[in-house]
Amino acid sequence: MDADKPGAMEIIELLLTADIYNSVADLGANDLPQKIRDHYRDPETGIVSRPMRVTLADVEKIYGIEGGHAIVRMLPFIEQEESDGHIWLAPFDSGAQWLAHQDSYDLIQSNPVLAFHYQKDDPTISYAEARWKRPPVSEIEARIEKMFGEEADSLMKLVTIKVPGEVRSRLDELVLTDEQHEEIAKAQKALEYRDYLKDIGLFEIGKILLVGPPGTGKTSSARALGRWFDLPLVEVNLSMLISKYLGETSKNIDNVFMLAKKLGPCILFIDEFDFVAKTRDSDDHGAMKRAVNTLLKAVDEVSLVEDGVLLVAATNYPQLLDHAAWRRFDKVLSFTLPDEDMRSRILAMVLRRMDASVDADALARLTAGYSGSDLRLVVREAVLNALLEDRKKIDQKDLLRAVAQFQRRMDDHRANSIT
Ligand SMILES: Nc1ncnc2c1ncn2[C@@H]1O[C@H](COP(=O)(O)OP(=O)(O)O)[C@@H](O)[C@H]1O
Ligand SMILES: [Mg+2]
Repeated sequence: MDADKPGAMEIIELLLTADIYNSVADLGANDLPQKIRDHYRDPETGIVSRPMRVTLADVEKIYGIEGGHAIVRMLPFIEQEESDGHIWLAPFDSGAQWLAHQDSYDLIQSNPVLAFHYQKDDPTISYAEARWKRPPVSEIEARIEKMFGEEADSLMKLVTIKVPGEVRSRLDELVLTDEQHEEIAKAQKALEYRDYLKDIGLFEIGKILLVGPPGTGKTSSARALGRWFDLPLVEVNLSMLISKYLGETSKNIDNVFMLAKKLGPCILFIDEFDFVAKTRDSDDHGAMKRAVNTLLKAVDEVSLVEDGVLLVAATNYPQLLDHAAWRRFDKVLSFTLPDEDMRSRILAMVLRRMDASVDADALARLTAGYSGSDLRLVVREAVLNALLEDRKKIDQKDLLRAVAQFQRRMDDHRANSIT
C-alpha cells in the first residue's frame, strides 16, 4: 500500500465516490466533483445514472493517469476484471479507511459525495460545506431544458443565469461601508451554516433588500455576490416577468422560483423591485395585481435555510414599496451616496489601472453628492478628453475639466426638469 504512488488517491477517490453515489439515492449529479460529473453525465439530460461503473479507461480519461494496472495491483482492496478493466472496491471499508489515513482532508472536503460519507465519523468534515463550495454547474441550461421542457425557452427570457466565472463585477472593486461588508459576511455564514440554522429553527433569514439612490452600487454588489460566494446567480428580469407574458405570468413566476430552488445553493436577484409597486398603483386590470401577489407569495415561500436560495432584491425607490413588500425581507441594507472618504477611495479604485497623476482627495472634496456611478462617468470623460489629444496619461486638469462638464450637465438637467 504505497500512498506515495502517484494516482492511488485519485483511483480510490473515484471508486469510493462511485460506491457512495450508487448507494445513496439522495445524492445527485451536482454532488459529484466536476471532473467526475462531466465524464459520467448524459450530455442531453445532465443526469449521471446509477450504477456508476469504473474502469481503468475512466481513470485515464478523468485524471490522465496511465498505467492504472500497476497502481491497482498494489492496493489489495481493489478487485479488477482483466478483460475489460472494470475495477471496484472489495471491501468498501478498506478503501474508505485507506483514504482517511492519507493526507486527504482537502480532497474529501471538496467532494460532496465523499464528505457525505466521512462526516458521519469525522466532525471536521461537512457535507453542507463541501456542497456549498461546489463549483458551478456548467450544464445549467441543459438541465433547465430537461426540467421545464417546452416552457424552458420562455423561462430563459425572464432570467439571466450567470456562473461565478462569468460575473464581471467584483466585490473587491467596490468601495463598501463596514455595515455592508458585515451583512455580506453574515449572508455568507448563513449559507454555510444553513443545516445548523434549520436545526435550531431559524428560518427567517436570507432575504435582503438593497435600497439607495441610483448609481450607488446595488446592482453591481448583488451580481458580485455570485462570484464572491462562488454560486450561480439567477437574475430576474422583473418587468418582463410581470408584463410581457401577462397571461402566463403566475406560472412564470412559479417557474422562476422553482428553478432557483432546484439550482440551490444559488442567489436569486430581483433588480428594480419597486416595479411591484408601480404595477400595483397603476389603473390596469386585475391580472397585474394577481401577478404581484403571486410574486410576493413566492418571495415568502422561498427559503435560504430550506432551499439554499439567497434572495437579493434592489430598489432605487424604497418609498414606493408598501408594508406588504417590505416585511418580506429580513434585512434592509442601505446604499447611500458616498461620503468624501469613500469618494476618494472610489476614484482611486476606478483610476488604479490608468496612467494617472491625480489628487483623488482633492477631487473627492469637489464632488459632494456624486454617486459612485457619477464618479466613474467623470473619469470616463477625462479619459476620452485625453484620447481626443491622443494621450493615454491623464492628470488633475483632465479630471477637473471632466467634473466641470459633468456639473454643467447636471445643472442643465435639473433646470430642464423643473420647468
Ligand atoms: N461604492 C462603489 N464603489 C465602486 N464603484 C461603484 C460604487 N457605487 C457605484 N459604483 C459604480 O457605478 C456603476 C453603477 O453602479 P450600480 O451597481 O449599477 O448602481 P445601482 O444599482 O445602485 O444603481 C458601476 O459601474 C459601479 O461599479
Ligand atoms: Mg441598479
